[in-house]
Amino acid sequence: MWREAIEDAVGKVRRNLEMHEGAFPHITNEKRYEWSGNVDWIEGFHTGLTWLSYEYSRDVFFKEQAKRQIADFKKRLDAKISIEHHDIGFLFGLSALAGWFVERDGSYQVLSLKAADHLLGRWREQGSFLQAWGPENDELNGGRIIIDCLMNLPLLYWASEVTGKPRYAEVARKQVELSRRYLVRGDDSSYHTFYFNRETGEPLGGGTHQGYTDGSTWTRGQAWGIYGFVLSYRYTKDAAFLTTAKRLLSYFLEHLPEDHVAYWDFNAPITADTSRDSSASAITACGMLELLELLPEDDADRGWIKQGLDQTMRSLVSSYATIGEEAEGLLKHGSYHVRGNNGLDDYMIWGDYYYLEALMRLERGISGYWYERDNK
Ligand code: GLY
Repeated sequence: MWREAIEDAVGKVRRNLEMHEGAFPHITNEKRYEWSGNVDWIEGFHTGLTWLSYEYSRDVFFKEQAKRQIADFKKRLDAKISIEHHDIGFLFGLSALAGWFVERDGSYQVLSLKAADHLLGRWREQGSFLQAWGPENDELNGGRIIIDCLMNLPLLYWASEVTGKPRYAEVARKQVELSRRYLVRGDDSSYHTFYFNRETGEPLGGGTHQGYTDGSTWTRGQAWGIYGFVLSYRYTKDAAFLTTAKRLLSYFLEHLPEDHVAYWDFNAPITADTSRDSSASAITACGMLELLELLPEDDADRGWIKQGLDQTMRSLVSSYATIGEEAEGLLKHGSYHVRGNNGLDDYMIWGDYYYLEALMRLERGISGYWYERDNK
């Protein structure tokens, strides 16, 4: 089942690369990606898909395409094009850093470190947080963190490992502790975002950007939290992060509909028109695979996590994937910003990426690009 799904996915990645050489896929409402430049937070997922396809097939076509894309990322960082945000891990982790892991090309390591330095520059010493969006002292976003940021922290942990400089990992650790304290609620649900006074660091309150309400649980935010906390556990070995990841996961799985694939917000009213977010389920599948790799064989939670993984992946492959269809995307029924009426019930490039990452791990034991493969 997994192999057939991967073969289909790799074929689609190849066709997209052939049809849209040099371009990156963007959020769409048309059931076809819009293909344009490297200017958003999502382009790394395209390069990540290209690297996964190379690792599966060993066809140099994919490697050459990935290298060209990395050259584009280098230009973007050098020219500082649309990088005033924290999604530097998504952008450079899945392009340059993945290239370093796969090819051991030193220039990719240098580029990844430069990207890590840029991300580190978003640490606000006065308030003690990594600012998610916008310039320093920005009126709206100057004191704002978001749960998605947890997936950008591996770039910082890795930078400390490779340079021996503790600063990157210290900042990552402070951010994950802050996220655990303020973004995770007592019932194991989560805020999408949280505001602090940017001068004093005083906590002001939770809110949302893409969720149903400020106090609801945006499904993809919960998914970023699951995978993000478990990755922080891998790097720090702090058991509190492992516990938090399990608890967020338990909430996620307990609030799924019958087919085991999430609606876009756990508190949104469910009608026949309510959008799913298959990308949140794909991210969560990767989080479950990561948890299963790290948990001891006798851990009491392995059973329900394995069951959750199996149910999620079977449902995605059999009812959400575009296997055998003429399509640009790999996973149908993702959602980007439902309240903003942007990217509803459509392909999401990060959904495609995490879906293939999960399949590659199930079939080949290859675990994506969030850490060195000998990091135990
Ligand atoms: N990180 C932005 C999103 O998940 O939509």
